[in-house]
Formats: sequence, structure tokens, C-alpha cells
Amino acid sequence: MIAGRIVGTGRAVPPRVLTNDDLSKMVDTSDAWIRERTGIRERHILDPSLAASDLATEAGRQACRKAGIDPSSVDCIIVGTVTGDCPFPSTATFVQKKLGARNAGCAFDLSAACAGFLYGISIADAFIRAGQYKRILVVGVEVLSRIVDWKDRSTCVLFGDGAGAVLMVPDDTGRRGVLSTHLFADGSLTDILWQPAGGSREPLTAEGLAAGQNFVKMNGREVYKHAVRNMSSAVRVALEANALSPGDVAWVVAHQANLRILEGVAERIPLPMSKFFINVDRYGNTSSASVPTALDEALEEGKIREGDLLIFAALGGGLAWASAAVRW
Ligand code: ACO
Repeated sequence: MIAGRIVGTGRAVPPRVLTNDDLSKMVDTSDAWIRERTGIRERHILDPSLAASDLATEAGRQACRKAGIDPSSVDCIIVGTVTGDCPFPSTATFVQKKLGARNAGCAFDLSAACAGFLYGISIADAFIRAGQYKRILVVGVEVLSRIVDWKDRSTCVLFGDGAGAVLMVPDDTGRRGVLSTHLFADGSLTDILWQPAGGSREPLTAEGLAAGQNFVKMNGREVYKHAVRNMSSAVRVALEANALSPGDVAWVVAHQANLRILEGVAERIPLPMSKFFINVDRYGNTSSASVPTALDEALEEGKIREGDLLIFAALGGGLAWASAAVRW
């Protein structure tokens, strides 16, 4: 039985740090409010001269290096993002060029907001099981600082910029790799978290810009409720599909939206918070970049060992959500 296995990870985080105290000079907020409600202390902001593909390329280069695979032999690039370089062509094609992945037969973006990376893992695993591609780079990248209203305290304190990447190859040992992925969507909730303008529905106009229609709009309480409910049920689905129980889990590497959401998820599974890898305090919510960034950090810190059962979970705009069970 062939499965997709992650053999290299990488991350790229802009050097510029924006702290909660910095934000309190921009909007009516405080370090205490942000930390208590979200667990976030600081986030990273990309230099205006750079774009999503710059971060994605750096993360992808690291993943290739750690996998011992030259970028020229990558055969597919999948980039999960809602803040790509431009509406088209895909950010994945910019990454292909910058990385020197000239033999990649396919490069495309996918839009599933914060679940984008996990949707990408699922597609990569299916490609590998079908024998279609053998060296797949999956990237989650966001430059959310470009679509956040820095005058709106209810959203601007939450988000940050970053990229994470993994390199996936076939594993035929039957012992390691992706055990399962589960993808979900509920289009009845498109309006609780979205960016109204900039697409065909509402092209950018001077009036739209003046009204801030190009910025993230969010009903925080609704998102919170659905995030806790759906991420916890997606984790349970991942366990049940593999006849596993919470006690089998070594680490949950979940979307780092905010600490309170993760505490709610942990309570519902149930699993202790000590099983959740946390880095939201230093990055804020980096949407599709958060799971691969957390995975890369957890590996760097030596927390993950061969044979560990990892559960990935994420939810974002759409709503779109997903889980994956991985034997490391
Ligand atoms: N600083 C200070 N006060 C604030 C801020 C802020 N940054 N933002 C809002 N407030 C105020 C509100 O105006 C309100 O004041 P009022 O009572 O005078 O009207 C008060 O704080 C409470 O506001 P609520 O929105 O009810 O606060 P809540 O406890 O729900 O926390 C939060 C808000 C943190 C956004 C919460 O709803 C949440 O975590 N939601 C999930 C959102 C999320 O994570 N989105 C990310 C994208 S989706 C994803 O990744 C899963």
C-alpha cells in the first residue's frame, strides 16, 4: 500500500515583529485584552517590497533541503493561500520559477483559507496513491497584513504573515505517512469570514476601497463557535477512521487561530492541552501557513519521534475545514 509521507519541512517568517503593545498605539486595544482573548503576544509582518511567493519559496527551499531533494526534481507544487501574489497566475507558478523547480509538471494554488494546507496535503496524498506525482511540495503561505484593516481592532490583532512547506514522497512500507485525510465545507456560512471585494463579485473600485470592502470581514463569535465544534469533530473523525483513540495521539498540530479555540477543541475531543503544539503566541493566525509552520517548529524542537501519531486539524473561511492522521 502506497501512502504520501512528509520527508522535509520548512518555514519562512518575516523578521519584522509587531507586538501587542505596538498595536495598542494603532488602535484602542491592550496587550492584556489580546493575550487573554487569543493567547497572541506578537506577529510577523512582511516587508512591502516582498510578496507571498517570496515567503513560500524560502519555506519550500528549506523543505527540499531537509528532504535531501533538489528542487529541480520536484514534480508538483501546491500552494494553499488566500493572499497570493496576484489573482492570476497562481502563486505556485511564481514559486516554481523562484525555486528553480523547472521539472514540476504541475503547479497550482488552492483556496480553502486556513484549511488550505490540509486540503493540499489531501490532494498530494491522493496524487501519490494514484502514482501521478512522486515529489510534491505543499505550501501554506499568507500575507494577511495586506488584507487586514489596521483600523479595525476586532480583526487586526489576530493575524500575521508567514509560510510553511512540506515535501511529500511515496512510502510503501505500510508503516509511515498519511493514514487518512477528511475534508469538509459549509457554503451556507460564507459571510461570517470573508474578503468581499477584489473578485468578480465586487471588483475593486474607488468606492469599494473607501468603504474598506477589500479588508477581511469577520463575525468573531460565530467563527469561534464553528471552529471549536468542527475542528474537534474533524479530529474525532480522523481517529475513528483509523480505529484509534485520543490516547494514541502523540501531538495535535492544529491551526493556530487562537489559544481559546484550541482549548475548546481539546476539551471536546477530549485531550489535554499538553498534546497540542502551540506557537500562536509568537505568530498570531497565519491561516494556511499555521499548520506547516507549527509542524516545522515542533520537529526542530525535537518533539516528534518516528512512529508518533500526529493529528492535523484546521478551519477557516468558507467555511472549509479538514483533518489528517499521520504516522511519523
Ligand atoms: N481590543 C479591545 N477590545 C476589543 C478588541 C480589541 N482588539 N476587539 C473587540 N473588542 C471589544 C469589542 O468591541 C466588545 O466591546 P463591547 O462589549 O463594548 O461591545 C468586547 O471587546 C467584546 O467583543 P467580542 O467580539 O464579544 O469579544 P470575544 O470575547 O468574542 O472575543 C474574538 C473576540 C477574540 C475575535 C473571538 O470572538 C474569537 O476568537 N473569535 C474567533 C475568530 C478567529 O479566530 N478568527 C480567525 C480567522 S478564522 C480561524 O482561523 C478559525
